[in-house]
Formats: sequence, structure tokens, C-alpha cells
Amino acid sequence: MLEQLIPARRQFPVDDPIFALNAEAQKRRAAGEDTLNATLGALADDAGKLVLLETVMELYRELTPMEVAPYAPIAGDPAFLRALVRRHWPKLEGFGTGCATPGGSGALALSVRNLLEPGMTLLTAGPYWGPYATLAGENGASVATAPFPEPGQPLDAEAWLRAGAAILERQKRLLVWLNEPCHNPTGRSLARADREALMTVLRQLSDRGPVTLLLDCAYLDYTADPGHVRAALDHYAELGEEGRVLVGASLSLSKALTLYGGRCGALVFPWVRDEALQAALATSCRGTFSNCPRAAQSLMVRLEKDGKRLESLHAEHRHWSGVLEARAQALDAALKGQGLPGAPWVGGFFISLKAADPNAVCARLKAQGVFVVPLPDGMRVGICALPAAQTSRFAKALASALKNA
Ligand SMILES: Cc1ncc(COP(=O)(O)O)c(C=O)c1O
Repeated sequence: MLEQLIPARRQFPVDDPIFALNAEAQKRRAAGEDTLNATLGALADDAGKLVLLETVMELYRELTPMEVAPYAPIAGDPAFLRALVRRHWPKLEGFGTGCATPGGSGALALSVRNLLEPGMTLLTAGPYWGPYATLAGENGASVATAPFPEPGQPLDAEAWLRAGAAILERQKRLLVWLNEPCHNPTGRSLARADREALMTVLRQLSDRGPVTLLLDCAYLDYTADPGHVRAALDHYAELGEEGRVLVGASLSLSKALTLYGGRCGALVFPWVRDEALQAALATSCRGTFSNCPRAAQSLMVRLEKDGKRLESLHAEHRHWSGVLEARAQALDAALKGQGLPGAPWVGGFFISLKAADPNAVCARLKAQGVFVVPLPDGMRVGICALPAAQTSRFAKALASALKNA
């Protein structure tokens, strides 16, 4: 261990846990084993090949050197920010207040830096995407949770109120990260009544101190029902327009355009125009990554103006959403066939399953060549990488792992 490394930075695992599991699965496959790898959050076809949206790749190839090579403005190209916001809220004229970020991860990080003091806690739904804890921690914050509803159950508004009130009591401000609709890891969305109940809680809490709701919009294009995503975004827009709770969004091109490595997204507050917030965000950009990749921003600007490309992108999203839906349905049926609870899915790349001893169950799955990501109360299954034809193998392996628990 290098003495130069400060003691506070010496205790981390060498690999990101999800990437480490993926690497192990790949190594075993390369050694000839027939593994089933449902760890990573990237969409793969039934042959295991990464899905790249052809419409996007075509546009990428058309970018001119001047759309790729120069620095982008520090806070992002305003035309990009506007195009990305209007992709989510087409009725808006501008992006409000915001900046380009390296993916949604960058947006989440900058939200902590600008909306919480060091040492504070943010609130999110549990279970949550594991890197939330790292993103919060690296920016001096910690994570508290209130429950995402179980299938068929209403949101526990009391629990959200209690958790939010305790945080506000302590630190006099509240930041909520909400990856909804199409939640990672459950693969479900809030019902309208749940969302309404949550908004009522946030409005109540906003009487006790400044409250921000940051929507983490990572998976919205992949759903069995695009209408429910539209309705949810419109619903959140009403809360944003009202102005009591500051509503922002972490937007990303990673899954939406399969530009994972393009590292582009944005942190936006579409319903406010605030000079001090805009200046703070630009300063955060300058002080962390300076500016974001120009190419992905240019691509988004081109896409917005290209009706034909928008249509073909929509068709690709519908195709792959259909593939995900078929996989989710096959998995649901296979699990039920083994006498296990099913896995309802509404959108996104994952579903989550319950298990009493997640680490032991995941280890037993691994012994059978099946790789999933352990969660505090179960496991995350990446249907983005689980062909429908493999779901019965998965369900049998899980039934066996649970029986031997
Ligand atoms: C819930 C959630 N939020 C945000 C992200 C951020 O992804 P990116 O930084 O690539 O936009 C991911 C990626 O897996 C995610 O699953």
C-alpha cells in the first residue's frame, strides 16, 4: 500500500462489484462454461451481442469533425440541453436551468454537490442502484431509504414522510433521488396514486425546509407501455410548475441512445430559471470535468431536427421494448412454473426477486453458472441480457439455490 494514498481512501474494493461479477462470468464463459450472465445494465440481443441502436450509429457516422473535436461550452451546448429536455417534456420551450454532465452519473454527483452540504444525507427509494451509495459518498453525502412499493401494494407514504421529516429535522434541507418510472432494480413504476401520495408528502415536507426531487430518468425508453411514462413525466411537470418543491432531472443518453461510452447526459431543472443555480452548476462542471463530450451533444441536436430519424429511433425502441417484455413474461412464467413468485415488469432493464439470504443464494446460483447482482433483500436480474429461451434454466437454478439455502 502506497503511503502516499491517504488513509481514508484505502478501504475500497479493487473492482466495482457489478463489473467484477460480470468479469468473472465472462472469464468462465471464455474457459468454455455455459454461463448465464444477468449482471450488467446493458441491452444484449439473444446471441449476447451488445445492442446498438442503428439510427443513432448512422447519425454518429454523419457527424462532421467540427461537431466532434472542439470543446463544448462548459455548461453544455444550450441547443443540446433544450433538445434533451424537450425529448422528455416536449411542451417546454427551453431547458430552464441546467448543465451537460457525463451521463446520469455526472448529474447525480453534481446534484449532491450543489444541493447538500458535506456530511448530509439524501433520500431515495429502496432497493436502489448500488452506485448511488458511491456517488453520494464520493460527494460527501450518505443515502437513506424509504420503500419502493411491493407489487400490488400502495406506496407507504407514512414511511416516506417519517424518513423525509427526520432528515429535514437534522439538516434543514432534503434531496430525493427517484429513479422512476422504470425503476432499477425492480423493473416497476409507481402507480398514479402512489406518485400523488409521494407528491403530497414532498409538498408537506417543503413547509419545513427546501426540498428537491431529482428524477433519475435512465430507462424510460424501454417499457411495455410508453403511455405510462408520458403520464408520469406530465404528472411530475405539474409538481415542477407549482414551484413548492424544486423538481429536477438527471437525463442520460447511455441507455436511451445506447451511447453508454459517449458519456453524455444533463442535470436540469426545467421549471426554474435561476442565475445563481446556473452559475453554481457551471462552476461544478469547470471544477470536475471541465466540459462534456461534444459528439453526443451534437448528435442529440441533429436528432431533434430529423423527423425521419426520430421515427426510426422510436421503432427501434418499440422493438427492443417488445424483446424485454417477452423476456420478462417468459421469466415470470418460468418462475411460477417452479412454484416461485413471479416477476411483474413494467419497464427498464431489470427485475428484482426476493431472497432471505441474498449472498448465499447468489453464490449458489454462481456455482451453477448463473450470475445476478445481490441486493439487500434479494437479487437483481438483468433481463436486458437474459434471452427468453434461458429463463427456464434461470428459474430451475434459482429454485435449487433457494431449496438448498
Ligand atoms: C438507475 C440508474 N441511474 C443512473 C445511471 C447512470 O448511467 P450513466 O451515467 O451511464 O448515464 C444508471 C446506469 O446504470 C442507472 O441504472
